[in-house]
Amino acid sequence: MNVSATPLPIHVACIMDGNGRWASRKGLPRTDGHTAGEEALAGVVRACAHRSVGWLTVFGFSTENWVRPRTEVRHILSLHRKLFGRINEMNENNARTRWIGRPFGETGARTPVYVQKAIRKAIADTEHNTGLVVTVAFDYGSRAELVRASQRAMADGSVTAESITQNLYDNSMPAVDLLVRTSGESRISNFMLWQITGSQVFFTERTWPDFDAAELDLALAAYANGVTS
Ligand code: FPP
Repeated sequence: MNVSATPLPIHVACIMDGNGRWASRKGLPRTDGHTAGEEALAGVVRACAHRSVGWLTVFGFSTENWVRPRTEVRHILSLHRKLFGRINEMNENNARTRWIGRPFGETGARTPVYVQKAIRKAIADTEHNTGLVVTVAFDYGSRAELVRASQRAMADGSVTAESITQNLYDNSMPAVDLLVRTSGESRISNFMLWQITGSQVFFTERTWPDFDAAELDLALAAYANGVTS
């Protein structure tokens, strides 16, 4: 499909749900679903870069996900190291890596040191790129972000919509235009609650590992149809 003539969202955000269901339908362990999900994400990054989407933000691991079985958590963490290690691909796509989540060293933050290192390296090694900005939300929860932003705004003496926005984890990020959630769930799950205030939402029955460039194009077309001005 040619989407070049349609209005593109500047900022697409994805809640990548359904890895476990994808795996169980195939009789595979849940961890295989996450592995396939990481591959699907690499494809979506490529597709967004080729379609001139400006920003892609994905929910990689939430503040609530730490209660999952230890082997599953360990597997998802190692997939994040793999994902942040895709530096050559990011450079080929002229894409920058960024991260949002509970800042390292602050109370409650849980990102392990080896993932911190992968995040720092990915950011440093891709910061010269000028195209798509890919932000991975890891150890991220919107409520934690908003509590912190409100506290910091209050410490600066003024709690307003602007001062809260200024104190989000990444205050250079534009508002989300299009939010995608896969796997037939119509929930938001503590993701970017401030940033999605005006966004369109695209829910699809597809599980995340099956979310590909063609499905992205359906979401972009739905967005274009819903843009009224
Ligand atoms: C939901 O599937 C997905 C997550 C817990 C987020 C993790 C995403 C990945 C591992 C994909 C790869 C991405 C990165 C950033 C490495 P689920 O387990 O909740 O699926 P279910 O609802 O079918 O059980």
